[in-house]
Amino acid sequence: MKRILLILVAVAAMAQERPVHVLVAYYSQTGNTEKLAVAIGKGAASVKGVEVAVKKTVDVKDAEILAADGILLGTPVQWANVATGAKQFLDRVGDVLWKAKTNGDGKTAGAFCTGGGVAMGKDVARLSIIAAFLTMRFVAVGGVDDAGFGTMGTEATTGPADPGISEKELEEARRFGERFARVTLKMRAP
Ligand SMILES: Cc1cc2nc3c(=O)[nH]c(=O)nc-3n(C[C@H](O)[C@H](O)[C@H](O)COP(=O)(O)O)c2cc1C
Repeated sequence: MKRILLILVAVAAMAQERPVHVLVAYYSQTGNTEKLAVAIGKGAASVKGVEVAVKKTVDVKDAEILAADGILLGTPVQWANVATGAKQFLDRVGDVLWKAKTNGDGKTAGAFCTGGGVAMGKDVARLSIIAAFLTMRFVAVGGVDDAGFGTMGTEATTGPADPGISEKELEEARRFGERFARVTLKMRAP
């Protein structure tokens, strides 16, 4: 009896030791969304016990989707919505989980985006991503801005009003990644 108990404790300890896998997937045509993805990945990797992969959506293997404890998806805003390349990835996540007869239960998901305009679809793009993940049964995780308000995930304006990606936006992205990783780790806790 004592021996069985010891084995059970050892198995439980090993299960806890498995690192949490966070996948930061992004679609990017001109590099802006990629910069946010890299910063989010750095933030996530700063959390002990978390392994992070930052990948273009087309480079993500089905097995990585299945193995991920948390998935973040980044997109440029195109015509006030998610770009096709990112939408294709979302559809693939749904397909892969469905075929494996599983779903997002116990896993986290989040969104981030860049857009040329200040208010030309960044909310719609992030909400579309979050809505898809929610219907796959993931738990949605947002970020926190520098004023302390919750966000739908990091966003950055890249057009003439605020060209490129600023250090402030990168810092917010890092904080988002860190928060996402912490919450994902907690979800895995017994
Ligand atoms: C076909 C197309 C449509 C776009 N539509 C929008 C839009 O509706 N709203 C917006 O804010 N930016 C729009 N943009 C600008 C991009 O979202 C912006 O440049 C973004 O930062 C590009 O990200 P990337 O460098 O990761 O590709 C559009 C860009 C393209 C190429």
